[in-house]
Amino acid sequence: MNVLVTGGCGFIGSNLVRYLRAQRPGWKVVSLDKLTYAGNLENLGELEGDPGYHFVRGDIGNRELVEHVIRQHSIDAVMHLAAESHVDRSILGPEAFIVTNVLGTQVLLDACRPTGVKRFLMVSTDEVYGSLGPTGAFTESSPLRPSSPYSASKASADLLALACGHTFGMDVVVTRCSNNYGRYQFPEKLIPLMVVNALHDQPLPVYGDGGNVRDWLHVEDHCQALAIALEHGRSGEVYNIGGGAERPNIEIVKGILSILGKPESLIRFVKDRPGHDRRYAIDPSKIKAQLGWTPAHTFERGLEETVRWYVDNRPWWERVRSGAYLQYYETQYRARLEPAAA
Ligand code: NAD
Ligand code: TYD
Repeated sequence: MNVLVTGGCGFIGSNLVRYLRAQRPGWKVVSLDKLTYAGNLENLGELEGDPGYHFVRGDIGNRELVEHVIRQHSIDAVMHLAAESHVDRSILGPEAFIVTNVLGTQVLLDACRPTGVKRFLMVSTDEVYGSLGPTGAFTESSPLRPSSPYSASKASADLLALACGHTFGMDVVVTRCSNNYGRYQFPEKLIPLMVVNALHDQPLPVYGDGGNVRDWLHVEDHCQALAIALEHGRSGEVYNIGGGAERPNIEIVKGILSILGKPESLIRFVKDRPGHDRRYAIDPSKIKAQLGWTPAHTFERGLEETVRWYVDNRPWWERVRSGAYLQYYETQYRARLEPAAA
């Protein structure tokens, strides 16, 4: 099988490409990636020279290019991960999220139809469901109530993919996963940001009271679920993917400090994110029952291994944090350090 992975140089995409080359060695994997600030060729440096892996730099919104790549590599299936992915950035500037996540997804779907792509796997997010109260979990039939520009753009893409199935008979499968963690995550998301700041003895900005809950999924468990969903998912169906590891943010931040042997005095409670979703929790019973998937990683061990990876791979995050990104972050970082009461 020949698979096109969009966003293959990002966090989940690069872990997925690596996973597929190791676990599905008979598949040819082509990565299409624009290499935004979040995409990095270095994430897949070890695959250089691998005849089963090809990289194409390009935008999913370029229909001509996408059709050319699909035809050139006789692509059978698309795993669509390319996106603008950070909620905070979507609050500062939603436009890029609409261009890539909504329009780009539609262009990609349109390019798949005349070129004979057999299956389209849309990687969506649990954030499309909005926020939960203190109890309960999202199921595939929970209503979609996205609350940030990011999640609204992902809900649009998710529904456009499903609409393509209904309207044009395209074979579409949608997955909605919870927060991923693991190696190669860009250090603007909670876990790598806190590790990097702690290593610099800089304050760790915790939004609001730190009681917001996320349901953590190890990226390698996610990649396994995506491969299974592509192979065995039922056409037109949605599958929730979650690691069963609900934790309040403050607990994660304290856990990171403890692994690194750094003091809790580095924690700084700062002004909350506007519209901050309080709690996410995934009910993954459908993918477990229908496709036989279960996560292999436990959170505490996975977190410790992840933190150690960042400690051991300082040159990687120093490089990806340099240049334009650093400028953006320094500005945002200063703004973020306003105290919670402000
Ligand atoms: P990421 O930001 O690390 O990577 C995104 C990748 O997409 C980058 O390599 C970037 O260069 C590429 N890209 C962006 N715009 C593009 C465009 N127009 N054309 C081609 N490539 C483009 O994101 P991630 O965390 O790896 O997330 C991957 C996918 O998984 C996204 O669709 C995201 O919405 C979804 N998701 C992520 C999480 C998470 O916890 N990280 C959770 C749920 C869902
Ligand atoms: P994030 O990693 O941005 O993922 P998402 O917003 O998609 O869930 O954030 C995870 C949680 O951590 C979320 O509740 C916001 C919180 N957070 C902070 O408290 N401080 C930070 O500096 C960041 C980036 C996130």
